[in-house]
Amino acid sequence: MGFQTTVPFDDQRPGTSGLRKAVSVFRQANYLENFIQSAFDRLTGLEGATLVVGGDGRYYNSAAIQTILQMAAANGVSRAVVGRDGILSTPAASNLIRKRRALGGFILSASHNPGGPDGDFGIKFNGANGGPASEVLTDSIYARSREIEGYRIRDGADINLSRLGEIGLGPMVVEVVDPVADYAALMDEIFDMAAIRALFAGGFRMVFDAMHAVTGPYAREILENRLGAGPGTVINGIPLEDFGGHHPDPNLVHAAELVAMLSGEGAPDFGAASDGDGDRNMILGRDFYVSPSDSLAVLAANAHCVPHFTGGLKGLARSMPTSQAADRVAAALGIPCYETPTGWKFFGTLLDAGKISLCGEESFGTGSDHVREKDGLWAVLMWLNVLAARRLSVAELVREHWRTCGRTIYGRHDYEGVATEGANALMAELRAGLAALPGSGLGGRAVATADDFSYTDPVDGSRSERQGVRISFADGARIVYRLSGTGTSGATLRVYLERYQPDPAGHETAATEALADLATLAAEHAGIARHTGRATPDVVT
Ligand code: G1P
Ligand code: ZN
Repeated sequence: MGFQTTVPFDDQRPGTSGLRKAVSVFRQANYLENFIQSAFDRLTGLEGATLVVGGDGRYYNSAAIQTILQMAAANGVSRAVVGRDGILSTPAASNLIRKRRALGGFILSASHNPGGPDGDFGIKFNGANGGPASEVLTDSIYARSREIEGYRIRDGADINLSRLGEIGLGPMVVEVVDPVADYAALMDEIFDMAAIRALFAGGFRMVFDAMHAVTGPYAREILENRLGAGPGTVINGIPLEDFGGHHPDPNLVHAAELVAMLSGEGAPDFGAASDGDGDRNMILGRDFYVSPSDSLAVLAANAHCVPHFTGGLKGLARSMPTSQAADRVAAALGIPCYETPTGWKFFGTLLDAGKISLCGEESFGTGSDHVREKDGLWAVLMWLNVLAARRLSVAELVREHWRTCGRTIYGRHDYEGVATEGANALMAELRAGLAALPGSGLGGRAVATADDFSYTDPVDGSRSERQGVRISFADGARIVYRLSGTGTSGATLRVYLERYQPDPAGHETAATEALADLATLAAEHAGIARHTGRATPDVVT
């Protein structure tokens, strides 16, 4: 057992989903150690506790886990539950924390950001409920990281994480578990697996793109082995440290290979992809893209087909920039729909309090009360279960939703890596102009309300201010502006656009076309070119 002296860092403030930095930053001497010790110093009940540790397998995952285990042992942890080879998808880690009644867990991932020596790395602490730590705790860890003078670590050889079973590490037991088993068992409990199996047996075909990220082994086991989807259903199924050099981000831009496979005659019935750590999902039908906001709404409207939800839904929640399609379903079902700030942790209190059953974000995140993270593969299985029960194609199901609730046309424009000063000035100017907007016209559209979103958690009363500028128009359209909290270089401006079409029948315009006017208006109103020097967004989803 050793105590190592160090000097503090001042850049370890966690963002929307943990501490996320370039690998080169994490590899600085004592950087990882300082952050982990800061967490250990601010956690209560560490002595004798169980801790879950695992990550998405990206570069630096294994090295970081070895360090964390030696530190956990030196800090009095009794048992560390680790996925074989250090692998755990984020939702699988959330499930293990809950199932093992652990104090919490460290999840190592930079989600959909690229990996490899020149890519990104990240660490997130999730608490006993399986969800991201509260802001109070992360702020306290951050404060500690700026004053810390040393850390505790065992001085021992790396342990073999490739074999299942228990290994002693000084006073601590390391238990290496199959990363897939408990998660797959949970999916068996939630879904009508027999119905999905029958769907595949009847000739239904799908492709799942694991993007060389963590879900490969999960998807192979569940889709191919348990559900009988044909071999080859899972593509890019081997997790790689650099994700094959790609962005493991399931959207129309980064999952272009999958999008191409789903188009044209002979394409499979269903396509899906997940991200680096397995919490995101993209859903495609043949020649049909389901926007994540619509996906949440359609799943909510059809949740009664799924055994886990046969008792009905308690409520829904969506992040503020997510489209209002879910609100319309909630209204029809007579249940509440909460609007929360961006980031999964805000759903956690609502889920814990039993106020909601389903929740989602426009950024390809969908989830439920089964864990306290968004869950990519769960969303795919939810779709499969609904398709198996309804016997409709993806497009038919979404069109049915548009007919009953109207179509909420949605798009997001990202301006990545822009200069921080410009981005901040843009937001400041938008905020300064808010008060004058309501009742006036913008680009010929009547503005109904305009504000900087703030949120009071209905369960614990905590306040979150300055969560993004939103402008709502009288015709149901909306423009939202916010800066990303997950980027690792410069600032990323996100502009969210939404239009409501009560009766979409017969005029199903593509989203980009239908939103073109609103996009121009949003860019002009915020002075995006003036502040960022960018004429067009880097990514449109
Ligand atoms: C992004 C998404 C957000 C999501 C987060 C973590 O955060 O927009 O919805 O919760 O990643 O996956 P942002 O970069 O916008 O702060
Ligand atoms: Zn992710």
